[in-house]
Amino acid sequence: EFEVEFARSGVTAAVPAGTSILDVATDNGLFVLRSCSEGVCGTCETVILDGEPEHRDSVLTEEDREQGCFMPCVSRATSARLVLDL
Ligand code: FES
Repeated sequence: EFEVEFARSGVTAAVPAGTSILDVATDNGLFVLRSCSEGVCGTCETVILDGEPEHRDSVLTEEDREQGCFMPCVSRATSARLVLDL
């Protein structure tokens, strides 16, 4: 489990094992576009503002990742806290 902060929304919430960041966002009333929910379509893309990501998608390039892009439908965090531009 780790904590995610949705910076633009001012919401911080725990992400339990087995639950996606995107589901946590939706459960907290955020509206985030999604399509595949499997890390392949690119629809849910957002940007990391702080924290260490554990990328699990198959759509972002290394360059995208270096620029902070992140797919919250499948990817997680290795740090205790991840701050996203959502
Ligand atoms: Fe398709 Fe996240 S919803 S990559």
